[in-house]
Amino acid sequence: RKKLLADVDCGTDDAQAIMMALADRNVELLGVTCVHGNTTVENVCKNVLRVLQACDKLEIPVFKGADKPILGNTINADHFHGLDGLGDAPCPNPPSLDLVQKEGAVSALIRIVNENPGEVSLVATAPLTNLALAVRMDPSLPSKLRGLYIMGGNTDSRGNIRVCAEFNFAADPEAAYIVLKDYCCPTYLACWEFICHSKLSWEFCDAWLAQDTDKARFMARIYRHSIEAMRSERFKKMFVGGSGFVSCDPYAMAAAIDDSFILECDEYPVSVELTGTYTRGMMVMDTVGLLKGKEALKKAFIMKKVDMKKFEQMMMAALK
Ligand code: BDR
Ligand code: CA
Repeated sequence: RKKLLADVDCGTDDAQAIMMALADRNVELLGVTCVHGNTTVENVCKNVLRVLQACDKLEIPVFKGADKPILGNTINADHFHGLDGLGDAPCPNPPSLDLVQKEGAVSALIRIVNENPGEVSLVATAPLTNLALAVRMDPSLPSKLRGLYIMGGNTDSRGNIRVCAEFNFAADPEAAYIVLKDYCCPTYLACWEFICHSKLSWEFCDAWLAQDTDKARFMARIYRHSIEAMRSERFKKMFVGGSGFVSCDPYAMAAAIDDSFILECDEYPVSVELTGTYTRGMMVMDTVGLLKGKEALKKAFIMKKVDMKKFEQMMMAALK
């Protein structure tokens, strides 16, 4: 079975990504590490436990990580995910926070990868603070990963939270910079514009949520807020290529689960803008190879085309 670790800021689409991994018999989810992002790291821990409870998988270890970016203040995405990160839907039976492990997320990442050298794929669907701290504590960590799958960054200077920056990179630009520089393992990026171009339809969304299962009913409850946001004028303008059902994090998860999911990639040296009046947090690609020598950036695979039939099947299966 494929060994995965998920680093999340659970968020409605992080929830979908986790559920996708849990639904796949060929996947062993070794743990979920939590970080600030869509909401506070405390809410993120609660939300992950709620998702695991909805899937009857509370035995999977959950670790609490960084509560702030490396520099500056936190931002959040409550306009999209609700104040609690899961759509502010009533939760009658919340799992106890005592279930969160004593070990912190950064130590857990380092320990689990070292216990399974060369075997773990790390799926990061959140600000990259935990990953950046982990590589500072154990510089050998990336060389022991099978692969790194990130939802984050943008290819066209289209922002979804800052004028030119995607949320996960904008929420901790320094961390994204460190990760893109120091993670020497194969690195795959599901960037904002690619996701907008690979939208699902509203018809699919309706059929997906109408499945007669407890998981689908759970998703319908927590996702109502995000769906309203997606249908609002603000988001319609933001989505490249018009309105539709846009769920970001599952694309990174699907790529980590199934090697044949990605049909086309660009391979470019990438980094992140750390200064700039309007561009802090924006992903930078050296498409022509102008940066050489000491300045040269590390390359990443930027997803361009994926198997959408497979994606629909994996999304459906996540709520079965
Ligand atoms: C990313 O930001 C968050 O709101 C989502 O969970 C996703 O990881 C999209 O820009
Ligand atoms: Ca996320």
